[in-house]
Amino acid sequence: MSIAQNTETTAKLRCISCGSTPDSASQDFRCTACGDLLEFFFPGWALDQLDGAKPRHHTGPLALKSLWLNRSSSRDALDQSGVWRFRELLPHIPNLEDHAITLGEGNTPLYRLPRCARAAGVENLLAKHQGMNPTASFKDTGMTFAASSAHQGGFRWVACASTGNTSASMAAYAARGNMHSLVLIPDGKISWGKLSQALDYGALTCQLRTDFDGCVRILNDLVRQKPVYLLNSVNPYRIEGQKTAAIELMEQLAWEPPDHIIVPGGNLGNSSAIGKALVEMRELKLISRLPKLSIIQAQGANPFYRCVREFGGKKLEPMTADTLATAIRIGNPASWKKALRVLQATGGEVEQVTEVEIAAAKAEVGADGIGCEPASAVTLAGLKKLRRSGFVKPGESVVLILTGHQLKDPDFTIKFHRGELFSGTPVQNAAAQAKSLQRAPVVLDPSLGDVIAALDAAERNS
Ligand code: F0G
Repeated sequence: MSIAQNTETTAKLRCISCGSTPDSASQDFRCTACGDLLEFFFPGWALDQLDGAKPRHHTGPLALKSLWLNRSSSRDALDQSGVWRFRELLPHIPNLEDHAITLGEGNTPLYRLPRCARAAGVENLLAKHQGMNPTASFKDTGMTFAASSAHQGGFRWVACASTGNTSASMAAYAARGNMHSLVLIPDGKISWGKLSQALDYGALTCQLRTDFDGCVRILNDLVRQKPVYLLNSVNPYRIEGQKTAAIELMEQLAWEPPDHIIVPGGNLGNSSAIGKALVEMRELKLISRLPKLSIIQAQGANPFYRCVREFGGKKLEPMTADTLATAIRIGNPASWKKALRVLQATGGEVEQVTEVEIAAAKAEVGADGIGCEPASAVTLAGLKKLRRSGFVKPGESVVLILTGHQLKDPDFTIKFHRGELFSGTPVQNAAAQAKSLQRAPVVLDPSLGDVIAALDAAERNS
């Protein structure tokens, strides 16, 4: 089954490598001519229609900004969604009223992180917390859009390979849209929180004895044989929905871009989406300049870091990935070429961080009263390195994209605070540097005196 383009005249599909513009996508969302990824582009976006010089209905930047703002106070479910609110910048889905599946995604908070700012050596540090989405990760913004497209295409089954968050999100949106979902996850390598979500939302969950990259390979073969709609981020509808995190961020900043945005890099769909949105907003004169978008990987899962630093962006060498930040345990990221373009367009950097740096940064985000999952904490760990290298200056404004909620992986958090996360591993000694951040629970007899003694000891140490 081929997937109709679902658009009127404004959005078209294009291959990122050979530039061919198919009318529809095949089920693996790869270019039939050269096999590379597809993306949406908007040939109808003529700048003279959008720069306010010749304002058309709802198309000038000022008109768009006020339209979007007004929608936030509407009672309409789509207007209330932090994704669909910005639908003018997304491909059109025909008969949307019959197909849109929304859980009120987006609308995520932008927090100030004062302690983390001090630890990183910057004055102005904010976090856009995408973990505050309905299924507690950034995946919901892309999923509402792509799942709606699957529904519009008449699919009974949707499927993804996942390190956990995509599967949780997909299963929820499929359930809301009365579709069946198939999840392929690496056995033993995703957090219980994420697995439990997929089960509760009713997915057919297959734990394959392989890693994420192995799950992707099986899924790609499956969608070529079965009428199953692929919901990984190679699906360009996912990328379009995920763009809205950047649009919403700019709105929260009164359309005044920060100097830097920092994102974690796994399969590299999110960085591609945020970067695409930034470039498009600049083209449409919704913002006057581009923030630098930097991508951070875990050292044990760093194929993109190596692609840029070792191979000058010329090739990506797949690797066997390993990190406790299981969400980004990915050795062969699908969207590396899109992410590379974003780095080049915005002048961003790529960095890698160690397991201990990730764990310490996660505790620091927690200590600011926010919290996030391990993969999200690479952003703060990466910022510290980018400060040390001088790429980020102390007076520059920085936004971290926190991609997942703290409760996604409590096992990691508890082991860290108990001092067990790295015991028996080669980094056991290096882990001592994070000791001051550990807050292990204190087990006591039920005695008032013991609790007061614990309180006094904590006060002396604070
Ligand atoms: N942070 C979290 C919490 C994630 O779940 C992921 C990816 C990333 C960062 C990386 O984003 O892949 O767009 O570069 N999780 C995917 C999943 C792969 O299956 O849930 P990316």
